[in-house]
Amino acid sequence: MNLTLKIWRQKGPQAKGKIVKYKVADISEHMSFLEMMDVLNEQLIYSGDEPVAFDHDCREGICGMCSLYINGEAHGPDKGVATCQLHMRKFKDGDTIYVEPFRAKAFPVIKDLVVDRMAFERIQQAGGFISVNTSGNTQDANAIPISKHAADEAMDSATCIGCGACVASCKNSSAMLFVGAKVSQYTLLPQGQVEASDRVINMVTQMDLEGFGNCTNTGACEIVCPKGISLQNIARLNSEFLKASLKG
Ligand code: SF4
Ligand code: FES
Repeated sequence: MNLTLKIWRQKGPQAKGKIVKYKVADISEHMSFLEMMDVLNEQLIYSGDEPVAFDHDCREGICGMCSLYINGEAHGPDKGVATCQLHMRKFKDGDTIYVEPFRAKAFPVIKDLVVDRMAFERIQQAGGFISVNTSGNTQDANAIPISKHAADEAMDSATCIGCGACVASCKNSSAMLFVGAKVSQYTLLPQGQVEASDRVINMVTQMDLEGFGNCTNTGACEIVCPKGISLQNIARLNSEFLKASLKG
């Protein structure tokens, strides 16, 4: 395939960015989108130009680092996959592809397609943990009965990889799906009960401090989420927050 790429280039956080046009040739349909970007970068390095900066780590849908907005969609045109799992067979010869960073006030651009998603880490630090007794009398986790239903639901929530596509696709830049998933994975399990009230209050407070918008139930987040995190996590977040607020 021969493709035209229109890519957001921005030298640094304060620099003015712009879309720059590139051509790539002989792209195999079996390549991943990031491998196609590697081809472009090799081309740029060979011709003495600066390669395009973009985030990636595992390249197998686990780490949540890849974060491209492709033709107006977070993670591109495929469903249930992160950018690193998107294959070039989703495009055709002669296509023009727009590649931009995830955009949100709380995700400032660092360079080109790389954004700062430390806001998610700070939300996690505010409550995304449980206390464990390490005094020598630690309870065997297998001795705590957990229903299959609760275990399955907690596992589904725990599959959130923290990519931020939910924020990037939301017209309000809301982080409710991410925070809902993180709160749910603990609140559904007995181990998460001790800090439950503090956790939800602290994580929501941090979410607001970071400048994420509020949820207006458009559901855009659920559609783009590569891990199929459902809106039920937002409903659970709201009910947990209400319960904790009433407790005072
Ligand atoms: S909820 Fe989905 S889209 Fe949002 S950060 Fe988690 S995995 Fe990514
Ligand atoms: S590079 Fe790790 S999820 Fe895409």
